Amino acid sequence: MSELVVRRLLIDLETPLPRHWCAGDAFRTAFFNSLSMSFPVGEQFFIDAVRNGLKALPTEQQAPFQAEVQGFIGQEATHRRIHSLFNQHLETQGLVNDWAPRAERNMQLLAGTNPRHALAVTAANEHFTAIFAEWLLRNPELLEPCEPRLKTMWLWHCAEESEHKATAFDVYAALDGSHAWRIKWFRRITFVFLSDTLRQTVNNLRRDGSLWRWTTWTSAASFLFGQRGLVRQTFRPWRAYLRRDFHPNQQANELSGRWLADNAPLYTVVSRPGQAT
Ligand SMILES: [Fe+2]
Ligand SMILES: [Fe+2]
Repeated sequence: MSELVVRRLLIDLETPLPRHWCAGDAFRTAFFNSLSMSFPVGEQFFIDAVRNGLKALPTEQQAPFQAEVQGFIGQEATHRRIHSLFNQHLETQGLVNDWAPRAERNMQLLAGTNPRHALAVTAANEHFTAIFAEWLLRNPELLEPCEPRLKTMWLWHCAEESEHKATAFDVYAALDGSHAWRIKWFRRITFVFLSDTLRQTVNNLRRDGSLWRWTTWTSAASFLFGQRGLVRQTFRPWRAYLRRDFHPNQQANELSGRWLADNAPLYTVVSRPGQAT
């Protein structure tokens, strides 16, 4: 069981933000903006999936998960709130979120089905966010020079994603979710997640007027495929999920604890495991 602390981030998200807030780089900014656009809807889905999964367990098996699930819900609810505030700036800048309504329609297809489906979808997404988080915490210079408030927002979110990466997976396992379903959903989510990220990033670049600039795509090439690129550094941890004996805690997460320890003045603790939120 993980001890999940819920934290309130102490950053100002009211003062307007620069359009290319990530190092003045159009591609990186559009990519991060795209991910943020999916969070409020996606994270609500994860909260519901884990909550419903816990309820589906026999009563006597629920107790060991109560505190962790409570922490998971508290962390994701805080992420939703912060990213909703950030997303309002993107709307003001003229960007249009096409991803969220499409994701909402897709999620509706799972309503009323066996709770293991939504949990397997959540565990797959949580694996994506955990390997992305570990990668960004290992390469924080990708956010340099960047609006400090946003650098804090992204690294805080990454640290907490790394902390709670096993919750959905463990509830799925406690419900005897099968390996076959876990892998089936992971393959589907890989396709959907990558294509949705790409679509929304291109959409953001088009509205921003940066889509056809040469520098946009040279930046994309190094961000994705360079020496420290996202695809290059996350392919192996992505593939590990396919193993029958995979567990999220087998993957690195020491950077998360270090960031949280080094940046304690940037947040307050709202609740600790076992406390009411
Ligand atoms: Fe999150
Ligand atoms: Fe998460």
